[in-house]
Amino acid sequence: MDKFVIEGGQRLSGRVRISGAKNATLALMPMVLLAPGVFRLHNTPNIRDVWTMSRLLGEMGVHCELNGDELFLDSSNITSHEAPYEQVKKMRASINVLGPLIARYGEAKVSLPGGCAFGPRPVDLHLKGLEKLGAEITIENGYILAKTNGLRGAKIHFDISSVGATENILSAAVLANGTTLLTNAALEPEVTALARLLVKMGAKINGIGTNMLEIEGVKELHAVEEENIPDRIEAATFLIAAAMTRGKVLVENVNPYHLTAVISKLEEAGCSIDVTGNCISVEMDEAPRPTDITTATYPGFPTDSQAQWLAFMLLADGSSRITDTIYHTRFHHVPELQRLGAKIEMAENTALVQGSVLSGATVMSADLRASACLILAALVAEGRSEILRVYHLDRGYEAIEKKLAGLGASIERVKTEEY
Ligand code: UD1
Repeated sequence: MDKFVIEGGQRLSGRVRISGAKNATLALMPMVLLAPGVFRLHNTPNIRDVWTMSRLLGEMGVHCELNGDELFLDSSNITSHEAPYEQVKKMRASINVLGPLIARYGEAKVSLPGGCAFGPRPVDLHLKGLEKLGAEITIENGYILAKTNGLRGAKIHFDISSVGATENILSAAVLANGTTLLTNAALEPEVTALARLLVKMGAKINGIGTNMLEIEGVKELHAVEEENIPDRIEAATFLIAAAMTRGKVLVENVNPYHLTAVISKLEEAGCSIDVTGNCISVEMDEAPRPTDITTATYPGFPTDSQAQWLAFMLLADGSSRITDTIYHTRFHHVPELQRLGAKIEMAENTALVQGSVLSGATVMSADLRASACLILAALVAEGRSEILRVYHLDRGYEAIEKKLAGLGASIERVKTEEY
């Protein structure tokens, strides 16, 4: 087990390169199940979730190898259609194999993901959508058992805009017989990245980038090479970190268009932002103005950046409101931040944040983005902090301590027996 030891008070400056998007990679990788052959995914982040997905696909017969940021996947010899609990419990995105498996092989056995650290996360929309496409679905012994004699196109309206459900249904509909219309589909950049990959593989999809996707099923798809999009959440984390330390940082290899909501809020809080090509520079030399956020589906403020923004607002002179409308109970970072001296009160799904004086402490957290928020708070807390359970961070941030140290942070990864 590793922990981070952070000495607060260093100003961040310099440049940092953002890795490929975790969530897009986890959406793209299972598509190798839709066609036999050799795929290459460039700009793949070297993170634990990618290893988990590689292991899961490996158990199905896909040969996966990460060389630098190029992920090689050979799906010529698929031997199993099952996603076991051991892998799914480590990573909910394992459910992304369901759509491709049922579409190509007519059967799938995928463990139900269960709850997660920030509340219930059902998969009812995934299952309802697949049933509409003609899959027979039963739940037995904690597993989703799906089978079909052939999927057929259907009209599917999502009651809630869901990234995962849109991805799963889209990746099944591409091989269905006939036309599928998805309405209130998620339009997150990761969904668009998936749709673009599928088109490259030979799928016919209209409305990419909108919430209405029309898919005309094709008989077969083929293996391709693809460039992954940059990680907008990692980028937002570094932009906020720079602003919190009153630093000046150039964040490279990003798609600024994907970060419009975050950039707009950073400006509202008083940061100077300059966007040039695929780089964003951020500079801040004073305390932020109190700035409320409410998370929303894309292009709104992402729930995955809520915790980091909350940490930022602890430095404001005044109070701000942080509301999460996507995951109402995603506030596990709050009690840990309180250990650092944060003044926060909860009212349902809103955190009322007061400007606070932070001092170092030992903290831990139960999920990926909450851990990132604790790092940011520790960077500005007076004295030394320890962040336990770094494995959450390793799931989704590539070498975060090296990137932060490169910008001047005092942060060290240390082996520990503590849990
Ligand atoms: C994805 C992201 C996650 C991000 C989330 C919201 C991946 C691997 N993860 O998760 O980082 O926080 O989008 O942007 O891409 N819902 C249902 N029934 C369903 C599915 C979802 O009620 O069948 C609800 C969820 O509980 C949640 C909302 O829909 O309240 C949105 O969730 P969804 O977009 O599906 O999130 P994920 O795809 O799981």
